[in-house]
Amino acid sequence: VAVDPFDLVVFGGTGDLAHRKLFPALFRRDHDGQLTDPTRIIGVSRKELDRDAFRAEVREALTIFVPKSELEDAALERFLDRLDYVTIDAVGDAGWDDLKTLLAEGLDRVRAFYLATSPELFDAIAHNLKKHDLISGRTRVVLEKPLGKDLASAQEINAAVGDVLDESQIYRIDHYLGKETVQNLLALRFANVLFEPVWDSAHVDHVQITVAEKIGVGSRGGYYDTSGALRDMVQNHILQLLCLVAMEPPGELNADSLRDEKLKVLRALKPIDDATVRTLTVRGQYRSGAVDGQSVPGYLEELGDGAESATETYVALKAEVRTWRWAGVPFYLRTGKRLPSQVSEIVIQFRETPLSIFGAAGGFLAPNRLVIRLQPDEGVKLYLMIKDPGPGGLRFREVPLNLSFADTFKVRNPDAYERLLMDVIRGNQTLFMRRDEVEAAWVWADPILEAWSRLGQPPAAYTAGTWGPSAAVALIERDGRTWHEEA
Ligand code: BG6
Repeated sequence: VAVDPFDLVVFGGTGDLAHRKLFPALFRRDHDGQLTDPTRIIGVSRKELDRDAFRAEVREALTIFVPKSELEDAALERFLDRLDYVTIDAVGDAGWDDLKTLLAEGLDRVRAFYLATSPELFDAIAHNLKKHDLISGRTRVVLEKPLGKDLASAQEINAAVGDVLDESQIYRIDHYLGKETVQNLLALRFANVLFEPVWDSAHVDHVQITVAEKIGVGSRGGYYDTSGALRDMVQNHILQLLCLVAMEPPGELNADSLRDEKLKVLRALKPIDDATVRTLTVRGQYRSGAVDGQSVPGYLEELGDGAESATETYVALKAEVRTWRWAGVPFYLRTGKRLPSQVSEIVIQFRETPLSIFGAAGGFLAPNRLVIRLQPDEGVKLYLMIKDPGPGGLRFREVPLNLSFADTFKVRNPDAYERLLMDVIRGNQTLFMRRDEVEAAWVWADPILEAWSRLGQPPAAYTAGTWGPSAAVALIERDGRTWHEEA
């Protein structure tokens, strides 16, 4: 469905996120006819560029990040025509009047400012928007992650931005919420009757959430080394997934109902502290090794000559949601860089049957398991015990009921940013994080970070191309369970 014309201003418009994700997403929406004239996209950064040079940069980025088959000439030219550029000093006064003049042309349009910059600039940019009278009734501001590095810094950002904008104008992005399969979790749980009655501690043995990446930190070492896996992935993406798995059904699907339910989960997370951090968490850092048969350098080598660092590139932990529904059900979470495959999935492991009527001859009855594959090969698999064919008596085999989205729908899976950017324009905050959610996530994450630093828990080394430190295997095996691996 086409959206009304809008002006989108991208701060950090020459940066990596803009090139890799934002412009390709906007191009695709335009290509599919969702952007209407005279929609404009205005890049902003401190770099001295004119409009033509900016357009050339974006053209180049699109040829890299959008497959050739989708890059039709007419659509590309139409998109590039929408682009403009302003050089601005985010913390000073230079350039702001130029932006104002440009925006004056579209006073009646939705006006969105996307802050794809370091969070240290959010305060200054928000206040400059106000000072230069750029905030209208139809203004929205998108904040990219990371939203701070701990509770205090997140509160500072929220307070600074909240100073000049109403919460209803603030869109804190967590791109995982824009992924098709993540939204499908809502469909699976609340558009079907099958799962909800067994979605609790009486039927679920445990939950696993894995976000594994093959990539290393590459050129992002400067940022990443001040962050680490807990801040970079767990505090936001993985906790959001956990919330969608664990929350109660919202009364209706509007932004506040959904976010209220997620908030309750975050607040119910059992704190991990100095006393429990060693048994409940594992940190790792990759050493050189091989991924897909290619040798790759270790984390420290990627940071640079002689670098030292105790930042984790891998984390596994056992979380617990202290609610009636989930009491006693462990949520095992893990994420890491330079693992053997790129896979994100949620596993709901059900309990064993109360009793086997088949006796020893029937063999082991593997408990049911629901695997929600977020990426790649998006889909849902429900593992069931089925009788092995043949006359040889009742023997069982675990077989998946397999729903592959690619086979079922045969359409391109849109990138998360396509959906989320259009939600900003339409004014739909459902898939964005509210201030209290972000802060509640930090309330849980901070004590873990503090305990690590207080107890000096260094990351265990793991070889690139392996599934992380052996302690992560021990973390779950101690409880008599194993990490799910697709056969
Ligand atoms: C980002 C993290 O938020 O998410 C990156 O900063 C990570 O370190 C990325 O690689 C993963 O996103 P996706 O969509 O590729 O799973």
